[in-house]
Amino acid sequence: MAEVKIAPSILAADFGRLFEEIRDIDQAGCDWIHLDVMDGHFVPNLTFGPPVIRAVRKASSKTFDAHLMVTNPDRLLETYREAGADIITVHAEAADHLDRTLSRIRDLGCRAGVSLNPHTAEECLRYVLDRLDLVLVMSVNPGFGGQSFIPTVVDKVSRIREMLDGRDVEIEVDGGITPDTAPAVVAAGATALVAGSAVFKGGSVASYKQNIEALRHAVRDL
Ligand code: DX5
Ligand code: ZN
Repeated sequence: MAEVKIAPSILAADFGRLFEEIRDIDQAGCDWIHLDVMDGHFVPNLTFGPPVIRAVRKASSKTFDAHLMVTNPDRLLETYREAGADIITVHAEAADHLDRTLSRIRDLGCRAGVSLNPHTAEECLRYVLDRLDLVLVMSVNPGFGGQSFIPTVVDKVSRIREMLDGRDVEIEVDGGITPDTAPAVVAAGATALVAGSAVFKGGSVASYKQNIEALRHAVRDL
């Protein structure tokens, strides 16, 4: 089985040194860089958008994993691609025409993801299974880092893995991921883990490396 991808969420980085923080997390050995875009409408918080993504793109050549917590994501898909996003994930709750949105993301040359809030049933995925590269399962209510993991998502991950029926689709879990919570979601079928506060602890490449290793160790050989 391929190793689980670790995607540090830069929401927990020092925004005053964002470029250096991304360079450091890259050197610390992460797989993807998780970018939490929040618009103050879909979620009660504001972060950053394409200009900031463009400004930090050169800090790492790793996969830029853009998680759009925005209402009406269709408006700026191309701009996110141009800014440097490799994966673009939209929320099922925010996309009125999910099938079309996913096709557009793929047409732009990006991998297409759908995210589900903790209360959103996975059934909607059934109708877009062949348009999907990734499912981002929220294990907290989106908007803020540092919240506690919601355990009901473990069974949800299993149900989604079953629904995918052998398709080569990543299941990424986001929110409250630590070495304690990670094993259950990986055992249920997750292949990528977002972690903000658990990874950006300690403020140095050495501590980031240790934090990433702790996550890898927790999910190895399950
Ligand atoms: C929440 C974000 C997450 C969050 C994860 O809205 O989507 O990516 O930053 O942070 P932790 O790992 O601290 O829960
Ligand atoms: Zn996220």
